[in-house]
Amino acid sequence: MNVLGIETSCDETSASVVHDGIVRSNIVSSQLVHRMYGGVVPELASRAHQRMIIDVVEEALRTAGIAKGDIGLIAATYGPGLAGALLVGLSFAKALAFGLRIPFVGVNHMEGHLYSNFLTPSPPAYPFLALIVSGGHTMLVLVRRPFVHQLLGETRDDAAGEAFDKTARMLGIGYPGGPIIDAIAREGNPAAIRFPRAFLENGSYDFSFSGVKTAVLYYLRDRGLLADAPGECVIDRPHLADICASFQKAVVDVLVAKTISAAREFSVRDIAVAGGVSANTHLRARMAEEASRLGMRSLSPPLEYCMDNGAMIAYVGWLRGQRGERSANDLTAIPNLALG
Ligand code: KG4
Ligand code: ZN
Repeated sequence: MNVLGIETSCDETSASVVHDGIVRSNIVSSQLVHRMYGGVVPELASRAHQRMIIDVVEEALRTAGIAKGDIGLIAATYGPGLAGALLVGLSFAKALAFGLRIPFVGVNHMEGHLYSNFLTPSPPAYPFLALIVSGGHTMLVLVRRPFVHQLLGETRDDAAGEAFDKTARMLGIGYPGGPIIDAIAREGNPAAIRFPRAFLENGSYDFSFSGVKTAVLYYLRDRGLLADAPGECVIDRPHLADICASFQKAVVDVLVAKTISAAREFSVRDIAVAGGVSANTHLRARMAEEASRLGMRSLSPPLEYCMDNGAMIAYVGWLRGQRGERSANDLTAIPNLALG
C-alpha cells in the first residue's frame, strides 16, 4: 500500500510516499524566510506552507512514480508544533483523503522522529532507548514494544536544538544554529572555556539547557562580543571556534551521560538518537564511542531523516494504518501534543 505522509509542524513543508514501509520519495522544502529573523516566525511559516504544499505533494507523487489514485492512506502531523503551520498540512491531508475517499491517520511528530530510526537497513531492536533531540524537544524515551513508550525525562526549559539556535543568534552566525555551530566547532578547542553542565537531581533524566545558554550570554556580554543583529558576528575566528566547540561539548556531555546511564539502568542494547540535533557530528561520535565501550549500539537515521521530513510521518502512518487505526473527521491540530 502507498501512504502519502505530510509534515508541516514547523518550517519544513514536506511530503513523502512510503510503499509497504519503504520510502519511495521524500520531498522537503525548507523555508528560508526565517533566516533574517534568526528564528521561525509562526505566521510566515503558515503562509509559506500554504504556498508550497501542493507543489511539494505533487513532487512527492511524481518522484514515487504514482498518481493520486494510487494512494491508499494519507498521514499528516497533527502535533506538536506551531498551530497555524500544523493546520495547513492537516487540513490539506484531510481534504485530500476526503476527496479521494481513502482513510486518514493523524501522526504525532515525536513518534515520527522516534520511528525514523526504522527507515534504515539496521533498525533498533526492542526494547530500546530513544533520545529525541530537536529544535522544540529533548526527550529520553524507553520504547518497550511498538507504540509502548515510557517518557524517562525531557527538558525543563530550552530544547537542545533551541539552545544551539539561540547561542548562534547571540554569536551572530546565522540560523538554524545547530549545523553552523557544528561546522565551526571542528576548528576549535572544546576545553577552551568551561561552560556549565546541568545534571539536575541525582538520578533525574530531565534536561536543562538554559544555564549553558545564559553562561554563553554572560561570557559574550562581559567581553563586548554579543551580536547586534542575526548574522553580524564580531568575534575573531579562532575565538569563535573555541566558543562553539566548548558550548557544543557542554550540551553533548549531558545528552550522552544521561542517555548512557538510562541505557544501563534499563538494560537496553540499542540507543536510537533522532531529531534535528542527531545530525550533530560530535553527538554521533561521542554516543557511538560510549555505547560501544559498554557493548551497546548507538543508531541514528541518515541526515535526510534526522530533520523534519514527510517520510517519518508516512512511515508511522503506515504502521498505525496496518493496526487498523483511523483518525476521526474532527481531528484538529494539537500544538502541545504529548508522546503517548
Ligand atoms: O527536528 P528538526 O528538524 O525540527 C524540529 O522538530 O525542531 O530540528 C531542528 C533543530 C534546529 O534547532 C537545528 O539547529 C538543529 O536541529 N540541528 C542541529 C544540527 N543540525 C540541525 N543541531 C546541532 N548540530 C547539527 N548538526
Ligand atoms: Zn522535528
